[in-house]
Amino acid sequence: MKSVEIAKNTENINRDLFKDFYTIPNLKFDVDKLRFDLDKILKLKKFNSLGIKNFAAIPLNQIPGDKSSIEGHNVRGTYWTIPDETGKEAKRDKPIDESKYTELVAEFKGTYFEEVFNILRKNFKLGRVRILLKEPRSTLSWHRDPEPRLHIPIITNKGCRMVIENVSKHMPADGTVTITNNTKYHNFFNGGEQNRIHLVACVLENPFN
Ligand SMILES: [Fe+2]
Repeated sequence: MKSVEIAKNTENINRDLFKDFYTIPNLKFDVDKLRFDLDKILKLKKFNSLGIKNFAAIPLNQIPGDKSSIEGHNVRGTYWTIPDETGKEAKRDKPIDESKYTELVAEFKGTYFEEVFNILRKNFKLGRVRILLKEPRSTLSWHRDPEPRLHIPIITNKGCRMVIENVSKHMPADGTVTITNNTKYHNFFNGGEQNRIHLVACVLENPFN
C-alpha cells in the first residue's frame, strides 16, 4: 500500500474510533484568558463539592432569578449507572429542566467566561454550563447522562482521559471545543497529580443521532 493510502486509512480508522468525540471545527478560545479569569472567580466563589469525593463544580448559568437552581442536587442532575455485580442499571439523582438555564451567574459578568458563554449559546442549544473540577488520581462512576456534553479543558494533564465505552481520549487545553457523546456509558479519570478543570456544558441537540 502506498504511504498516501496508509495515511488515508489511518485517518478513517481514527475518525471511526473517536466518533463519540466531536471537535468543533473553526472554533477556538483563549485558554490563558480562561485561566486568568478563573483565578478571579475563585476569589469570589468556591467549588461546590456536592458531597461526592474528588469532584466539584461552579455553575456558570442559572434559571433567571433562581439561586436554588444552582444549589444542591441541581449542580449534579440525573444519570444512570451500573453499581454492582448484578449488572443492573440504576437511576441516580433527579432530572433537571436544562433549557431554563439561560442567565449568567452574576460573578461571571464582565469576565472572559461571559464572552465564551455568549459565543457558545449562539452556536449551540445549551443547558447548564459548569466549571468542573476533578481531583488527582480519581475517577467518576461508570455512567451515562441524558445528553451530550461540550468540553473546554482549562487545566489538564496527559493522564486526564475521558473513556466512552471502549475508547479513551485526552482532550488538550489548547482552546478547542469538543462535544462528547455522554449518552453512551463513560467515565473520566484524572491520573495526574494536579486538579483537572474543564468548562462543561450540557448540549440539548444531540449531534451524534
Ligand atoms: Fe457524565
